[in-house]
Amino acid sequence: MTNRTPIIGGNWKMHTDLESGMQLAGAIVDYVDALTNDDEEQPVNVVVYPPFPYLQAVESITGESSVLCGAQNLWTEEEGAFTGEVSPLMLKDVGVSMVLTGHSERRHVVGESNALVGQKTQRALESGLDVTLCVGETIEQRTEGSTLAVICNQLTEGLESVTAETIKKVVIAYEPVWAIGTGHTASPEDAQSVHASIRAHIASIFTGDIADSIRIQYGGSVKPENAKDLFACPDIDGALVGGASLSADSFNAIIQASL
Ligand code: 13P
Repeated sequence: MTNRTPIIGGNWKMHTDLESGMQLAGAIVDYVDALTNDDEEQPVNVVVYPPFPYLQAVESITGESSVLCGAQNLWTEEEGAFTGEVSPLMLKDVGVSMVLTGHSERRHVVGESNALVGQKTQRALESGLDVTLCVGETIEQRTEGSTLAVICNQLTEGLESVTAETIKKVVIAYEPVWAIGTGHTASPEDAQSVHASIRAHIASIFTGDIADSIRIQYGGSVKPENAKDLFACPDIDGALVGGASLSADSFNAIIQASL
């Protein structure tokens, strides 16, 4: 990592309930707030992504702290006849400031296309939310040697409508699909190599300065035991954590490893 502020996200996916989610948020807030002096810049940005029904309750705990409350998904319109979908304005209304787009489970379980991910990214930014755009290859794509082609397409289409101004509100998360929830983390060398290629692709779409300043998180079986080696890589600016974000002890240990 360089002078980019690390960013650690906890993606709770479809886990927790109201009580355990509020307890988890409380334990993270206590830990993160103790790291931050009022007059100093925050050493790390921390975002939690609870399931939709618990956003408001979790935000009531994170709201007064430096921990941000994020959402796992959104719809491409602000209002209308879209049964079962959630609008960016509703997210903002309950205090959400950041949203994931293109998570691999949305792409591969639900079937979201690169184009839809791009539309969601555009809508989120236009509605005033920050975005974490997730990209990553499957094991088949890696084996056939198309990792970088897949990721560059996901970036190009996902950032289609993003400008040199709005890119400041975007974080990229590289999450190789084969590393998610499997216990098989990418080695720091493999992850660093893809992160460097992502940064180069961002430079080709925007500018070198933008590429230097954008933060790229790694995700996929990040744990306290492997976080420090990943964060030591020059192009890895934090982590998007699934399983290990469901315990305050392990999530806080990952936050600590980024400092
Ligand atoms: P795991 O940390 O459980 O592998 O999940 C990673 C992830 O998908 C975060 O968005």
